[in-house]
Amino acid sequence: MLLSVKNLKMHYKTKMGYVRAVDSISFDLDSGEGLGIVGESGCGKTSVSMTILRLLPDNAEFKGGEVLFDNGNGEPVNLVSLAESEMRRYRWKGISMIFQAAMNSLNPVYKVGDQIVEAIQNHFPDTPTDVAKKKVAELFRLVGLDPTRMEQYPHQYSGGMKQRAVIAMALSCDPRIIIADEPTTALDVIVQDRILREIRAIQKKLNMAMIYISHDIAVIAEVSDRIAVMYAGKFVELADSVTIFKRPMHPYTYGLMHAFPSVTGKKVDLVTIPGEPPDLLAPPRGCRFYPRCPKGDKLCEEKDPEYVEVDKGHFLACHHPVQPGEVVQFNAE
Ligand SMILES: Nc1ncnc2c1ncn2[C@@H]1O[C@H](COP(=O)(O)OP(=O)(O)O)[C@@H](O)[C@H]1O
Ligand SMILES: [Mg+2]
Repeated sequence: MLLSVKNLKMHYKTKMGYVRAVDSISFDLDSGEGLGIVGESGCGKTSVSMTILRLLPDNAEFKGGEVLFDNGNGEPVNLVSLAESEMRRYRWKGISMIFQAAMNSLNPVYKVGDQIVEAIQNHFPDTPTDVAKKKVAELFRLVGLDPTRMEQYPHQYSGGMKQRAVIAMALSCDPRIIIADEPTTALDVIVQDRILREIRAIQKKLNMAMIYISHDIAVIAEVSDRIAVMYAGKFVELADSVTIFKRPMHPYTYGLMHAFPSVTGKKVDLVTIPGEPPDLLAPPRGCRFYPRCPKGDKLCEEKDPEYVEVDKGHFLACHHPVQPGEVVQFNAE
């Protein structure tokens, strides 16, 4: 196992109390595998990745769990117990990331190629500049950028090109895992789609593992071997992508895949699931999805369902799973 996350918990401390953004998350990741994490905005997806990478704001409080990373030389290391100086050896080289809105992170005053050369030399200080440059040229070709663009500045790039450059940057230190957090959300749909396919092809070609985060299950479907569905700080379902699509068992997963008409005044909008995720300062005490769930009952209101393996490789936290062929009717608001 390349990465094994066990009972990971991280809460944000605020004046109002604790925001329970990561509330006991567990999953495994194999080398070369693409794992998608999907859930509505505010469910804690970014918080999970930042907890794994230990890139958290000051008010974040680590509450427990393990992140076991096997870098291939012996015993897995538990990233949560490393000193920050040691952790730095694993970021970028072991696990790298493409952030939400990363394309704005390119420095406007340096040539794009030089920024990636610098990233390589930061982590591998012995790399001669001409070797690093050659590597960047290869990476540019890999992500679909002409290497002559290395000599240009970010403002000379389109949005899609900047995003490609950021992907090249994330690949530059040969990571075993890339965490991509909504990397294409800022792009138009056609460019987004093309880049997604290319990311997937690169991931397969390099046999790199990837954790791909999006609020959009259609996007996730394109890049994932397995899909984890996150709701209100927890994983509620996880299975291979085909199973998630053909046989979703959690009503939330089912809801994410169906659109329901919602009539607001004269306009009819398509909403996935009526209502909103709960406030993570005070989530419902039973199942966190209970207030929005058409199948919810007294048991769901009172008891948080355990997250268990209901079928081989199929994990679920639900008292009343959706049955094969069942139609779940969400009431439009
Ligand atoms: N620094 C912070 N302090 C307090 N609450 C935060 C902080 N960052 C995020 N949150 C809250 O944590 C929850 C999860 O956020 P996030 O991980 O960004 O979700 P997602 O990526 O799924 O949209 C949200 O309720 C959000 O408002
Ligand atoms: Mg996010």
